[in-house]
Amino acid sequence: MTKIIQISDTHLVGEGNFVSKTLETAAPLEDLTRRIAEIELEVGAIDAIIVSGDISDDGSAESYARFKSILSPLKLTFFAVPGNHDVRSIFRAAFSSAGYLPGSGKLNWHQVVGEIHIVGLDTLIEGQDGGELDSETLQFLESTLEKLKNVPVILMFHHPPFKSGIKFMDSICLHKGQTRLYEILKSYPGELIVVCGHIHRNIVTQLAGHTVISAPSTCSSFLYNIHSDAPVGFLKQEGGLILHDWSQGFKSIRIEAERGAGPFAF
Ligand SMILES: [Fe+2]
Repeated sequence: MTKIIQISDTHLVGEGNFVSKTLETAAPLEDLTRRIAEIELEVGAIDAIIVSGDISDDGSAESYARFKSILSPLKLTFFAVPGNHDVRSIFRAAFSSAGYLPGSGKLNWHQVVGEIHIVGLDTLIEGQDGGELDSETLQFLESTLEKLKNVPVILMFHHPPFKSGIKFMDSICLHKGQTRLYEILKSYPGELIVVCGHIHRNIVTQLAGHTVISAPSTCSSFLYNIHSDAPVGFLKQEGGLILHDWSQGFKSIRIEAERGAGPFAF
């Protein structure tokens, strides 16, 4: 059994700053860190945390330092991919001591946690909100999966490989690489789930015979309104996390930010 917690889109900024002058993002992550400690009591030891991008909102070194500081009481290993708000060089410098990030080029990596192989891909195009899987990254994925053959895999990258229906988010989705991604995934014979972030909503769909799951954001969400004139902006709504539990198959459980009152006797 292997238990991996996925958090996403923490959008941290420097001390005293707010996202879009109104959203406080450190306190929700602090609360969620305490919730993760409770979850460990409820479900057993967590093997690792994975973070599907936009750790930072402003790309500052201070925001990454805050992230590490907030998570540190958990004493859990974490692995992360960059999102469009992250800055590759500062992200690399902030997390290089963990040893899993390459020293140059795209931040693509492969780690083994318990029975699971986790592959992280870098979809960041610096200066743009949309993302891409470029040929270097797709080559990395293809050669990694070829070596793995038939083991359970969590494949993580920031930009979802599907359209959510929310127009302003779909305009900044994964713009390049989907066709080859589909072919690579189609030829992988083992259990594999694709996990991503970016759209601040938990959506489950399929791609090339594999399950694809977008994680909620720890600090905000987007209204699920599919009309072309839908308001553009974010909701102050903390989305919690996803627990990916491997035991002869994947089970992915959305766990809310708030535990809720109770349980009350029936
Ligand atoms: Fe994003």
